[in-house]
Amino acid sequence: MSSDEALLERRYHVLGRNAPLFYERPVHLVSGKGVWVTDADGREYLDVYNNVPHVGHCHPHVVEAIAKQAATLNVHSRYLHETVVAYAERLTATFDSSLSSAVFTCSGTEANELALRMARYRTGGEGIIVSDFSYHGNSQTLAAVTTCFPVPEAFPRFARKVAIPDPYRDRHDRSDEELSNHFAAQVDAAVKSLQADGIKIAALLIDTVFANEGLHDPVPGYVAKAVEIVRAAGGLFISDEVQAGFGRTGDAMWGHQLSGVVPDIATLGKPMGNGHPIAGLVGPTDLIDSFGLAATYFNTFGGNPVSAAAASAMLDVLEREHLLENARNVGAYVKTGLRALADKHSIVGNVRGRGLFFGLDLVKGDADRSPATAETKRVMNLMRENGVLISRIGRHDNILKMRPPMVFAKEHADRLLATLDDALASI
Ligand SMILES: Cc1ncc(COP(=O)(O)O)c(C=O)c1O
Repeated sequence: MSSDEALLERRYHVLGRNAPLFYERPVHLVSGKGVWVTDADGREYLDVYNNVPHVGHCHPHVVEAIAKQAATLNVHSRYLHETVVAYAERLTATFDSSLSSAVFTCSGTEANELALRMARYRTGGEGIIVSDFSYHGNSQTLAAVTTCFPVPEAFPRFARKVAIPDPYRDRHDRSDEELSNHFAAQVDAAVKSLQADGIKIAALLIDTVFANEGLHDPVPGYVAKAVEIVRAAGGLFISDEVQAGFGRTGDAMWGHQLSGVVPDIATLGKPMGNGHPIAGLVGPTDLIDSFGLAATYFNTFGGNPVSAAAASAMLDVLEREHLLENARNVGAYVKTGLRALADKHSIVGNVRGRGLFFGLDLVKGDADRSPATAETKRVMNLMRENGVLISRIGRHDNILKMRPPMVFAKEHADRLLATLDDALASI
């Protein structure tokens, strides 16, 4: 038994057999730098998956900020602290002026759970609409409304799921206008179905880039129409920015900005502290103030001084290294390369994505565009064997997901494209 196999056995024993791991042969990582990670045997992998180390693994500026603050003071969030307040000011300044206050948490789950509580408090409603292939967290309420993988909880009476338009599979000769109307009508039907059960809508909770759904190309007008319907019925729009946020798309700091709709609450997570656990929400000051009166909400670790230092340093790097611009430039370069691979390999049905976030929809090549699920799994595992880490998403698990740290450069893109070319050729 190799030492990795022995570690896996110990993990099974102590963390359970079903604690998820990536890849058929899990990777045992010991260090990281920029877009590279190294395993226990000293082998380097190009990381084209992780958005948590947003400005690169172990970025020295973030590491130094964490170390310095940890050596000075770390404490419960119920004390005055300059770094925490300054970070909240800086963060809220990147949003529309209506989203002027923040609450910090430790995970995206906590942020979404709190956003739902606030929406219910503000609207007096209970109903939640989510997409029919989504994940927003693992609390009781969020697990119950999870639609993209199995959960033991019954889908709740207070929730409804709606399909999100995927222009690649759903267009059927329809214009953007027809497509957005068709899918927005499902939101209308969901609101009415809740009302028929005597349930008032509290919130529409969606990720505006639909990352877990399969990173569908946006259909102009869809999000705006869906939100209009929900607001007309008295509900709020919660934009889950856990994957789309902090400039991932290159064109905007926040996913919702691409659809031109200002949410009532935006929830944040994963990249926020470059790996340090900080998440949160941003919303109107009057909502956060009045909710705070009704419900004493505090989060012991959420936004503590070390977390705030990490998150603030992450923003420093994002700005100083012009990483939104990098996401646009390198993203366009990768996309051109992916399109060339699509021309060469018939299994690639569709190339999608924006900034440094890409999806490759692999198909069987028939008229129905049947998903090439088994092949997608093989490509992903082959890439891992060949030193490039990617993943897969979507209803049929047939969309390769590529979402590297934002310091991804053209030389890394060349390595990704060459390895992908080989993998696609050999399945
Ligand atoms: C869109 C989205 N929202 C929320 C979450 C939950 O975040 P966390 O794992 O930090 O609780 C995730 C996690 O994958 C996610 O992808």
